[in-house]
Amino acid sequence: MTDTATAETAPRTDLFAKFDPIIQTRETLLASGVEDPYNLVMEKVLSPTRAICNGRDTILLGTYNYMGMTFDPDVLDAGKQALADFGSGTTGSRVLNGTYQGHKECEDALKEFYGMDHAMVFSTGYQANLGIIATIAGKGDYVVLDIDSHASIYDGCAMGKAEIVPFKHNDIEALEKRLKRIPEGAGILVVLEGVYSMLGDVAPLKEMVAICKKYGAMVLVDEAHSMGFIGENGRGVAEEQGIMDDVDFIIGTFSKSVGTVGGFCVSNHPKFDIMRLVCRPYVFTASLPPSVVATAATSIRKLMHGSNKRAHLWENSRTLHKGLLDLGFDLGTPEPQSAIIAVIMPDLQQGAMMWEALLREGLYVNLARPPATPANMTLLRCSLCAEHSEEEVQTILQMFERAGKAVGII
Ligand SMILES: Cc1ncc(COP(=O)(O)O)c(C=O)c1O
Repeated sequence: MTDTATAETAPRTDLFAKFDPIIQTRETLLASGVEDPYNLVMEKVLSPTRAICNGRDTILLGTYNYMGMTFDPDVLDAGKQALADFGSGTTGSRVLNGTYQGHKECEDALKEFYGMDHAMVFSTGYQANLGIIATIAGKGDYVVLDIDSHASIYDGCAMGKAEIVPFKHNDIEALEKRLKRIPEGAGILVVLEGVYSMLGDVAPLKEMVAICKKYGAMVLVDEAHSMGFIGENGRGVAEEQGIMDDVDFIIGTFSKSVGTVGGFCVSNHPKFDIMRLVCRPYVFTASLPPSVVATAATSIRKLMHGSNKRAHLWENSRTLHKGLLDLGFDLGTPEPQSAIIAVIMPDLQQGAMMWEALLREGLYVNLARPPATPANMTLLRCSLCAEHSEEEVQTILQMFERAGKAVGII
């Protein structure tokens, strides 16, 4: 026996005690007999819009595969070729042995896609926000951000130790009020999103960016949910609103329209390249596997010519939005603003019942709940794909009608 084993032990505080409320909520929900909405396994994925779940062919309406690139033959071929030519992984950081030809090609594709001077590829979009925000806004600087910002934006602020100044969601006046109060001469980064992922609503970027300029703030826009789809060339809401040249940094991800995994930042800032040496979530992690950057680069290049797909996705979004409204569902936006259509549920219990009823119908959507959602809402988040056919959208509406009536929501 060792000395430590015999030593008297002090009572321990259970570090898991803080999770008791969330454990309790989960147990109450599952005790009601509904299936766990956060534990679904896709047994086989058949296409961008269909998978086998619980042994049944299911329409996918809860992925971020907006442009349906995950099974694109050119994308798959590029990935297979890179796997054969470069192996399964880089086993290193971008600044050491982890930059392959494919990473450079992927950054070139991004520069071309956005028409920007610099592009930097990260291992996830989460790390891109974490890294860029934490590195450029440090102690003594201010980050002014929409209160509904993604967790990776908040985490970037916490890591950088800048002063966080949130403002009311999409409220132009609230943004100006906050900017007005910041001491003159302080460094200010305003962080906005093109499309907010919970309600699928679009930011008034044009007006907001004009105000940022007035107060000498730099602007970062996260276009995670708009890349590929919104804007004439799919560059996002900044393109749609004609302000590409006024934005300092655009953050994006490969895990949505691009159809794989990874993140990036593009910028015209002349000193941007120094980020490669000072940005810790870029330096201190392994780079993306060669097959991933090859699929991403191929997908990005194809998205430049995706106007037919974009038009079809808008059509799907309009049809689903109108159909759900006509059925009597309460939606997150008065009109379709993106590929995300959020159906507001009365509460978590009924939301989970509706989610399960839809799954039994053969439809998968996302059940979103606080703290991820704004204003304590429970949402059934529907994300459309350019590969959903017109018939599939009609089938989806019929499923919503049957499930909604069975659960008593409509
Ligand atoms: C707005 C926003 N930014 C960043 C991310 C992170 O992206 P990734 O999945 O590549 O980490 C997400 C992911 O959901 C997001 O919604």
